[in-house]
Amino acid sequence: MPGYDVFLTALLLIAAAFCLSIAIVQAITGVPPLSSTVIEAADVVTLLRQANLAEQAVIYELGAGWGSLVIALARAFPNAEIRGIELSPLPYWVSRLRTRHMANVVLRRGNFYHGDLSDAQAVTCYLMIKPMPKLARHLDQMLKPGTPVVALSFWFRDREAAASRESAGPLGAAALYHWPARKTDQGPSLTQPGQTPGTS
Ligand SMILES: C[S@@+](CC[C@H](N)C(=O)[O-])C[C@H]1O[C@@H](n2cnc3c(N)ncnc32)[C@H](O)[C@@H]1O
Repeated sequence: MPGYDVFLTALLLIAAAFCLSIAIVQAITGVPPLSSTVIEAADVVTLLRQANLAEQAVIYELGAGWGSLVIALARAFPNAEIRGIELSPLPYWVSRLRTRHMANVVLRRGNFYHGDLSDAQAVTCYLMIKPMPKLARHLDQMLKPGTPVVALSFWFRDREAAASRESAGPLGAAALYHWPARKTDQGPSLTQPGQTPGTS
């Protein structure tokens, strides 16, 4: 059946293109599209609750991946607006599909370094070691002083975490910062060597 063969070939080509796009974006960003677990997402929510966000806060999820953390945030903060930004096309479209009925979610495909984050009332991220220093500098430019930032697994070196949560699992710890969270010389930081989370 030639029609069936053409359909199957087209399907395979589309699947291959999406797989290739994941590999290319990962090579550019240095970050694979891993999802946060339910427990990790719950820790991020707990830390944001500690930050006493406004009811209708604008929360940016930088690198929204397949949408797991966006969904957890949208459920935990139903009156907030969750803005997810994701560069990789396949994860982006899957997260669009997963959040299609969530009125408080806005997803954008693109590079979070290229968008305006100045109206953020909170930021979350689950990235890797490599982008953390660059992201810290970007947030320095973008965020109002005191904006809560929660980093999952990979923390900001040279910044002082105000609180942290140790999830079960090898990488799951999350840290809350009140940006720019510059370290003073007094007192121990929560990001000391020997802790589980990766740091920049
Ligand atoms: C480890 S995943 C985390 C996914 C999601 N935040 C979660 O917790 O389930 C990180 C995502 O960030 C995306 N990413 C990395 N750098 C990015 C950038 N500069 N702009 C947009 N997305 C980026 C990657 O493509 C990847 O999907």
